[in-house]
Amino acid sequence: MHDIVLIPGDGIGPEITESVTTILDKAGADINWIRCTAGLNAQEELGNPLPDETIDAIEKYRIALKGPLTTPVGAGFRSVNVAMRKKFDLHSNIRPAKTLPHIHSRYEDVDLVMFRENTEGLYIGKEKWVKEDSHAESIAVVTRDASEKVIRSAFEYAKKKNRNKVTLVHKANILKYTCGLFMEVGEEVAQDYPDIEYEDLIVDNMAMQMVLNPKQFDVIVTTNLFGDILSDLSSGLVGGLGLTGAANIGDDAAIFEAVHGSAPDIAGQNIANPVAFLLSALMLLEHLDENNLADRIRQAVYYTLENKSVCTPDIDGSGSTTKFTEAVCSNL
Ligand code: NAI
Ligand code: MG
Repeated sequence: MHDIVLIPGDGIGPEITESVTTILDKAGADINWIRCTAGLNAQEELGNPLPDETIDAIEKYRIALKGPLTTPVGAGFRSVNVAMRKKFDLHSNIRPAKTLPHIHSRYEDVDLVMFRENTEGLYIGKEKWVKEDSHAESIAVVTRDASEKVIRSAFEYAKKKNRNKVTLVHKANILKYTCGLFMEVGEEVAQDYPDIEYEDLIVDNMAMQMVLNPKQFDVIVTTNLFGDILSDLSSGLVGGLGLTGAANIGDDAAIFEAVHGSAPDIAGQNIANPVAFLLSALMLLEHLDENNLADRIRQAVYYTLENKSVCTPDIDGSGSTTKFTEAVCSNL
């Protein structure tokens, strides 16, 4: 029995959580869910968007499945998500984007995995507004240590999964120190993996290349801000935000979540696509070495995607979150 912390989250979070736990339970996953709260709902119920009980539970069990969180204004920090990643040193944010069967998208056979540095860069929250001369500042910090952790994770992943190439994305031509350091570490780490092809690309060119020909990419590694943007772009290549899962991995803790946010525009309508969150849960199962179970659920999802009458509207379906969930359960 695996003890896993479960944070349903805000907006569509409870709906997709209900879907995913129903499917995992039906598939026979041996999981004891430890339910916790965070985000706007935790602020409203407990007066704290990141309650101590939630932190303590993650400290104790080290693995969580987390729905999207809205950070309330005036919470004392900018983002509950960023705070959790920092707190548990979840240095690598892994976001696969793979073409799914029966999904209409502009490309075929996309299969890339983005590794985004998850703890620093421009997201450390050191911003200030200087009233006197009306300007604003933002500080980016890049360390050798965090860069090496995420770049090495990307190469190790490539090695383990028999992938051929790692592309490092940067803007070292302008950001000579921060991105310069990231690139320097990339070149060093690449030396340890002579069998894996290594290249670096400047982020603006990368954005164009990904749209022109995404099939040329395999494993991608980049800094926090670029990874945030390019991973949403990757989701777009395979059909949208409702279809891509993500894992935040550290040396001794991991939090799995969808790439998308709380989608307030569709919350409570039973039309949120649970596939992204389900794929995150399958990454969690693989993390637990439950590979056969993950494969079986994945096959049931692929099969269900063909039946548009149960799929959600974002993927051209006429069904709902609950209809899709029931269909996956019966296709298991
Ligand atoms: P969003 O990802 O919530 O929504 C963007 C668009 O995609 C919306 O039109 C939404 O309806 C659609 N969408 C997203 N997920 C979907 C799904 N599963 N099925 C169908 N359609 C889906 O991004 P937005 O609107 O920028 O952010 C909303 C809130 O979420 C903000 O408070 C933001 O801070 C938070 N957020 C939280 C994240 C997390 O917890 N990791 C990540 C990104 C945003
Ligand atoms: Mg994002």
